[in-house]
Amino acid sequence: MTEPESAALERQYTWDARFSEPVDALVQRYTASVGFDRRMWRQDIRASLAHARMLARQGILSGADLADIERGMATITAEIEAGRFVWSTELEDVHFNIEKRLTALVGDAGKRLHTGRSRNDQVATDIRLYLRDAIDAIRCLLADLQRALVTLAEREAATPMPGFTHLQVAQPVTFGHHMLAYFEMFARDAERLDDCRRRVNRLPLGAAALAGTTYPIDRAAVAAELGFEAIAANSLDAVSDRDFAIEFCAAAALLMTHISRLAEELVLWMNPRIGFVRIADRFCTGSSIMPQKKNPDVPELARGKTGRVTGHLMALLLLMKAQPLAYNKDNQEDKEPLFDTIDTVSDTLRIFADMLASGIRVQAEAMQAALAEGFATATDLADYLVRKGLPFRDAHAVVGSVVKAAEARGVDLSGLSLAELQAFSPRIEEDVFAILAVAGSLAARNHPGGTAPAQVRAAAAAARQRLAAAS
Ligand code: ARG
Repeated sequence: MTEPESAALERQYTWDARFSEPVDALVQRYTASVGFDRRMWRQDIRASLAHARMLARQGILSGADLADIERGMATITAEIEAGRFVWSTELEDVHFNIEKRLTALVGDAGKRLHTGRSRNDQVATDIRLYLRDAIDAIRCLLADLQRALVTLAEREAATPMPGFTHLQVAQPVTFGHHMLAYFEMFARDAERLDDCRRRVNRLPLGAAALAGTTYPIDRAAVAAELGFEAIAANSLDAVSDRDFAIEFCAAAALLMTHISRLAEELVLWMNPRIGFVRIADRFCTGSSIMPQKKNPDVPELARGKTGRVTGHLMALLLLMKAQPLAYNKDNQEDKEPLFDTIDTVSDTLRIFADMLASGIRVQAEAMQAALAEGFATATDLADYLVRKGLPFRDAHAVVGSVVKAAEARGVDLSGLSLAELQAFSPRIEEDVFAILAVAGSLAARNHPGGTAPAQVRAAAAAARQRLAAAS
C-alpha cells in the first residue's frame, strides 16, 4: 500500500474518505441495524466463507488469503459463541461488524473478502439462509402440533360432541373429527411453507450492488455450497425484492389464523357454561383480585398474537410497495417484522403442541348434555322420513313441528313416545329410536370425510401416514 492509500484507511467508516463531516450521532443510531440483524451472524459467516472459497478457486483471491479468512472466521465464531464478541453500533450492521473484526484479526485478507460482493447481495443472501433454517424448524414444530391433533383424534374418535353452525347446535360430530379438521388446516399451512421455501432457496450473491460484478465469479458453485436450489437469475431483482419474506409472512399469518380459530374454541370450551374441555393449570393463570378465576391465557394470547403476525405481513407489503429498482435502504426494515413473525409462530406452535399433547382433558359428559338439549338429530329424523318415502322438503316441515312440540314439553326428540311421534307422521315406527340416538346419527355418516367413528379412525391413520411421508 502506498502512503496516500493508507491515509484513507485511518478513517473509521469505509466511506469516510468521500465524506467531509462525521455522521450525526442520531443518524448513526437511526441507520444502524446491528441490534437486530446480528442474529444472522452464522449465516453471514457461512455465506462469506462460501464466497471466499469461490474467489480462491477462481484465482481472484490467493490460497494464503483464503486460509487467513477461514482462520479469522473460526476465531470470530468462537468469540460470538462465547459471548465475547463486541458488537458496535458505529459499525452499523452485522456485515460491517464481522468484516471489521476479521480485518483486525487477519489484516489484508479481511479487506479482500468483499471483492466482487456488496452488502446488498450479502444481506439478501443472509436473510434467505436464515429464513430457510427457520422454515425447516417451524415445519418440525408444526408436525408436532399435527401429531398431537392426530393422537387426540384417535383417542376421541367416538366421543360425541355437538357440531355447530352459527354457533348453534347443528348435528352430532365426534371430538376426533373436530380435531382432524384442524389437522387439515395445518396440513395446508405446511404445504404453503414448503412451497414458499422453494422460492426462498435462491442465491442472490453475485448480484453485487445491483448490476453484477466485473470479476470472473462462479455463482453456481456458491449456490451449491450453500445448498441453494438455483441462483437468482436477475441481479437487480436479486438485491431488491423481498417477496420471499412477504410470502413467508402470508403463510405464517394464515397459520396463526388457524391457531386463532382453535384458540377461540378452547376459550369457549373452557367457559363453565360450556365446559367441553379443561386446560391443565400450567397453561392457565389466575386473577390478582378474583380468587376463583382460572383463565385460558395461552389461547387468548395466541389469538392476540395472530393480529401481530398479520400486522407484520402488512408492514412488509407496504415496505415493498413503490420501491424503485434496485436496492433501497427501506429494505433494512424487513428484518424486525420477519424475525418477530418467526419467533411468534415458533413459540406459539411449541406451546400449542405441548398443550394439545398433554394439557387438555375432554369432558365427554358436558358435550353429551349439550347434544341432548340441542335437537341435534333432527336432520336424522328428516332423513329417516325420506327413506320412508316422504320428499325431503315435506320431511323438513314435519320434523320442524316435532321439534317445536318437544321444545314445548322440555324433552329431546328421543324423549317423545312412539305414539306422540306417529301423530306427526304415521310413517314413523319403532326403529326411529335408533336413528334419534347420537351414536346412530354418528355411525350413519360413514363415508370418507364423514364423522362416523370408523371414518375418523381411518382418517387419523391416513393423517399419520401423511405426516410420516412428509418428514
Ligand atoms: N443493513 C443493510 C440491510 O439490512 C445491509 C445492506 C446495506 N446496503 C446499503 N447499500 N446500504 O439492508
